[in-house]
Amino acid sequence: MRGAGGSLVRMSTILVTGGTGVLGREVVRRLSDGGADVRVFSRRPRPSRAQASVTWCVGDLATGDGLATALRGADAVVHCATSGGRRDVGATQRLALAARRAGSPHLLYVSIVGVERTPSIPYYSAKLACERAVRRSGLPWTVLRATQFHSLVAAVVRAQRRSPVVLTAGGGVRLQPVDAGEVGSRLAELAVGSPAGQAADMAGPEIRTMLELTHEVLAADGLRRTVLPLRLPGKAFRALRGGALLAPRRAVGRVTFEDYLARAATGAGQDGP
Ligand SMILES: NC(=O)c1ccc[n+]([C@@H]2O[C@H](COP(=O)([O-])OP(=O)(O)OC[C@H]3O[C@@H](n4cnc5c(N)ncnc54)[C@H](OP(=O)(O)O)[C@@H]3O)[C@@H](O)[C@H]2O)c1
Repeated sequence: MRGAGGSLVRMSTILVTGGTGVLGREVVRRLSDGGADVRVFSRRPRPSRAQASVTWCVGDLATGDGLATALRGADAVVHCATSGGRRDVGATQRLALAARRAGSPHLLYVSIVGVERTPSIPYYSAKLACERAVRRSGLPWTVLRATQFHSLVAAVVRAQRRSPVVLTAGGGVRLQPVDAGEVGSRLAELAVGSPAGQAADMAGPEIRTMLELTHEVLAADGLRRTVLPLRLPGKAFRALRGGALLAPRRAVGRVTFEDYLARAATGAGQDGP
């Protein structure tokens, strides 16, 4: 792996929170392959399938347990952990405080494109508050916003596979899904480079309606279902219909949703090259 300046990366110690999650696994794999000394922070004990080169740090961001040990001597922290809600704000503040005490490593945070345009969605307003906590942490920082991962879009549809009717967002709601592996590569690159502040957004190659994406998942899975597109009242839905989650000028991802589904069907992994 090459650093931001193009030079070969010196050996860095990088802690990845959420290193067991969809995105975190991609970041861990790329950093390890690039020769970094990688630590995974998780609430769970080390699984037998974990890469031998990775150091496992058990802890909990909800309490701060294990953070001081995990952060000791770290050059950077890639913060991918999420509990899917408001508790992320306290977790991020706790992580930042512990990092300052541990010598102020570079803190990288992954957020979502359009969070400032969708404050009425509770998870997105929590992401915005986490971004703020990172910017105000006193640490050298980088925030990368990405659009929805292909795997998330597919999971929303597949969660309803047992139902004869599949509900989806109608009214022309569009997404620009991106491959988690490509986002993981970018984060790994940023983690071994200099702090970038607000990095350029990362979005997938195509803008598609949620209705189209839903039909595509069902077709890929060979499922015949009635699809019911919903139009909901309220600000959040209006923002989604207005394209709040899109970044058309940042369509830098190369893996399309169709590519992702085809690859997953061959068992070549859920996300990532
Ligand atoms: N999914 C998307 O479409 C998408 C799009 C753009 C940005 N993002 C952002 O990318 C990040 C990663 O998302 P993801 O979908 O990869 O997440 P995920 O698969 O749901 O993984 C969540 C991770 O958080 C860890 N975690 C949760 N609570 C924790 C706690 N109290 N202490 C320590 N670790 C904890 C879990 O680790 P253990 O269970 O091992 O403890 C797990 O590895 C999130 O910030 C998300 O907002 C996601």
